[in-house]
Amino acid sequence: MRRKMVAGNWKMNGNLSENKQLLNSVVASLDGLQGVEFLVCVPYLYLPSVQDVLQNTNIAWGAQNVSQYEKGPYTGEISASMLNDFECRYVIVGHSERRALFGEDSHTVAEKYQAAQRAGITPILCVGESLEQREAGTTEQVIEDQLAAVIKLAGIESLVNAIIAYEPVWAIGTGRSASPEQAQDIHSFIREGIEKRNVNIANDLTILYGGSVKASNASELFDMPDIDGGLIGGASLVAIDFVGICRALHQ
Ligand code: 13P
Repeated sequence: MRRKMVAGNWKMNGNLSENKQLLNSVVASLDGLQGVEFLVCVPYLYLPSVQDVLQNTNIAWGAQNVSQYEKGPYTGEISASMLNDFECRYVIVGHSERRALFGEDSHTVAEKYQAAQRAGITPILCVGESLEQREAGTTEQVIEDQLAAVIKLAGIESLVNAIIAYEPVWAIGTGRSASPEQAQDIHSFIREGIEKRNVNIANDLTILYGGSVKASNASELFDMPDIDGGLIGGASLVAIDFVGICRALHQ
């Protein structure tokens, strides 16, 4: 089902007391808002405490990464079934920081995507081009390749239970968002690429935009026909900013 969603990606930020303050404030501000799904993807260690605060609210919680393996000798890894123990409904896979800094290639990302789905968790698959790739005119090819790796391994039908996030690397944490038109162009490219394979799946696919979304630019991005919401980094750490973005989608 195509949904409207604002998801926060806290990345490696926060601590127990800050998290609690942030969430209490967000919960109070978003209480009763319907028709949009709200989500925070937090560092693994904080899942139990975040679960405590968010249980019985309209905000879901999830993780930022997952192992492609089910269990075994993988020191330091976290499996999808472990995420299930904390009732995570979503997990981010293939964030550009994981691809660039931790060497995750598109095949590994596809395996992680599949591991999440096997455990009944919805993967939020991140795709996006670097500045060099955009300047070289290869944006569409890069994104098609990132999507194709997942479709090849998991099949087109798997997208029924997945969300895609378009995050141009040059817009992440830089304060320089893609313009609504630039983002819309790529969102429609993604949807058309899926449409060629399966029209119904394309129509129902939720595609989020991420990269320097703020309360001040959220509405113009969310007004675009193929942008179904946002994946928010820095602004998800400040209650008033995150709530402002959530309200922009709700309107
Ligand atoms: P910023 O919103 O800080 O640019 O980060 C976006 C992002 O990477 C979300 O996953």
